[in-house]
Amino acid sequence: MKGIVLAAGLNTRLYPVTVAVNKQLLPVYDKPMIYYPLSMLLMAGIRDILVIADPYNVSAFQRLLGSGEHLGVKFSYAVQWVPRGIADAFIVGEWFVNGHKSALVLGDNVFFGPSLEAAIKQASALEQGAVVFGYPVEDPRRFGVVEFDSQGRVLSLEEKPAQPKSNYAVPGLYFYDEQVVEIAKSMKPSGRGELEITDLNKEYLRKGQLRVELLGSDVQWFDTGTHDSLLEAANHIAQHQKETGHYVGCLEEVAYRQGFIDREQLEALAHKYRNTAYGLYLQKVAENG
Ligand code: G1P
Repeated sequence: MKGIVLAAGLNTRLYPVTVAVNKQLLPVYDKPMIYYPLSMLLMAGIRDILVIADPYNVSAFQRLLGSGEHLGVKFSYAVQWVPRGIADAFIVGEWFVNGHKSALVLGDNVFFGPSLEAAIKQASALEQGAVVFGYPVEDPRRFGVVEFDSQGRVLSLEEKPAQPKSNYAVPGLYFYDEQVVEIAKSMKPSGRGELEITDLNKEYLRKGQLRVELLGSDVQWFDTGTHDSLLEAANHIAQHQKETGHYVGCLEEVAYRQGFIDREQLEALAHKYRNTAYGLYLQKVAENG
């Protein structure tokens, strides 16, 4: 399976912070935001990953993440020249997906929690169709919303509805079979001129090929789309890391635990960040296994 991280968009809701810097490069506590969604793909066992960025920031992502060799993975880069929506990732990335199954994660979505890894691994084992997730939120009007019947079957999907039919949002982590590029290419832009990911998911629903898995109540999800949700995510990560001693979104650790790199390689990465808490943490992971 291939992986795509979409880290483009204008992020006007965070102006003036994002006038000159792509939002996904901003810190969420002690790491660049993109580390968190990227760690989801690594956790799913995906090693071939395309980072899609806007034209001004693609070189910054290349400086930050490089070829991926140090993590035992391969990063490729592509530019989304015009912010044409999330589903456009599959048109920009058609050459990369190249007839494979693929996972898409939005560069501003932060997840953590003990049952997450199992949920992601299961989703990535999909044979046919699409798997997305449902997560209860206080204000579903900001998100894609999924409605279920009493048996838990999906009735409808709506993007940012004024009157949501449920309080289950669809987070920005999606798993698709080989049909996804053709579906994306056949889509029409929405009223706001974007190829909506919700419309793509609705096409899988229409075909009877959409599975929606509810994330466990131990999982936390933040979309960091507003100043407050960004701060909230950072505070939660800081608190979680201090309380448990375990880092969230630590790419080097995930790569090591997945077996993508060995202990020696992890130690070399720890050395690169020596004199920082991050480097000390990597060293500890390397020593304690
Ligand atoms: C996008 C999607 C929405 C999804 C959300 C998750 O919204 O359009 O369906 O629920 O990401 O973060 P955006 O954040 O672009 O407004």
